[in-house]
Amino acid sequence: MIRIGIIGTGGMARQHAKSFQAIKSCRVVSCADIMPGRAKQFATEYSIPAAYEDVEEMLKHEKLDGVSVVTIDVAHATASLAAIRHKIHVMCEKPLADTLANAKKMEKAASSAGLLTAVNFSYRNRPATQMAAKLVASGKLGDIRHVEGEYLQSWLTLDWQTEPALLWRLSKRHGSAGVLGDLGVHLLDLASFVVGDIQALNCELTIFDKGVKRIGEYVFDVNDSLSALVRFRNGARGTLNSTRWAKGRGNTVALRIYGTKGALDLNLDRPDEEQLSVCLGRGVDGAKWVAMKCPKTPNQQERFVTSIRTGRQGQTSFKGGLKVQEYVQACFDSADRKGTWVEL
Ligand SMILES: NC(=O)c1ccc[n+]([C@@H]2O[C@H](COP(=O)([O-])OP(=O)(O)OC[C@H]3O[C@@H](n4cnc5c(N)ncnc54)[C@H](O)[C@@H]3O)[C@@H](O)[C@H]2O)c1
Repeated sequence: MIRIGIIGTGGMARQHAKSFQAIKSCRVVSCADIMPGRAKQFATEYSIPAAYEDVEEMLKHEKLDGVSVVTIDVAHATASLAAIRHKIHVMCEKPLADTLANAKKMEKAASSAGLLTAVNFSYRNRPATQMAAKLVASGKLGDIRHVEGEYLQSWLTLDWQTEPALLWRLSKRHGSAGVLGDLGVHLLDLASFVVGDIQALNCELTIFDKGVKRIGEYVFDVNDSLSALVRFRNGARGTLNSTRWAKGRGNTVALRIYGTKGALDLNLDRPDEEQLSVCLGRGVDGAKWVAMKCPKTPNQQERFVTSIRTGRQGQTSFKGGLKVQEYVQACFDSADRKGTWVEL
């Protein structure tokens, strides 16, 4: 039986608890959150035997094979490094860290300790994404020429001002890197996973007027829209766009890829069976698109547990998380230098 502890018991931790508890060979045995009473309430709700208000106490007293770090972004490094010191395998939420320096520390510590790691880049585990990556790698699309990626949400156009889980996402002091650190990391991971490594990018980051500059301790000073031109190492060119201002878009993650022999259209906002469509073979002449059936694939929690059970590193890792963090830093550097290309 693989024994898991959850660190951080807010909104996203619910999905982690449910997904780990759905795995037969795994038990969520403890949870921890610094907010008084929160872990206890979470433990009651999900029938978890032990709850802590101090992460170090949990790591000291529980016999854990792995932890899942689901705290706010700024606490990912401290929590992960603590688990690594206790020789516990770590799956961390995205973004891997709040800064490139912390991401490097985490990667170095985990690899020196010989531990297994994972990062919850959840969209790459969708069956349609895994199939899209296979199609590109198989050469069926030919040489990739053009890529369009987007991750769109609309919550800044809705009622966001009373929700603490949204307020920290707007504030540098609370460790947020804005839409870039929140949605952009998913998009950068998705595009590079399916198309290949990014060689250079040119990024613009924007903070739009929200009608209010701060609420209590939360000062609204992080980017909320990003537009990037991207050059991939395989020669493809493309654009990546992400915003929290996309009226009418609850959570749209999409990637369109055009090659010399064919094209694919991935949209994770559609019903499962319509998430991937392709224009291939004879379909290319008449610009005919067909939906592609994609077999079920494991989610991130299943991959992490399998990785612990087999001792083999899974598809996502702190190394991969660090690569995405380097893309994030390149986006910041490009935006700071107002429209210059940054090579990776
Ligand atoms: N992969 C995805 O698709 C996805 C989706 C949503 C959120 N996330 C990520 O999940 C993480 C949590 O997001 P959320 O929406 O649940 O936020 P949240 O604010 O609802 O929950 C965060 C929890 O972390 C706790 N916390 C803060 N510092 C802590 C520390 N040092 N030790 C222990 N607990 C601590 C807070 O008290 C809170 O309960 C974030 O990193 C976010 O980027 C990922």
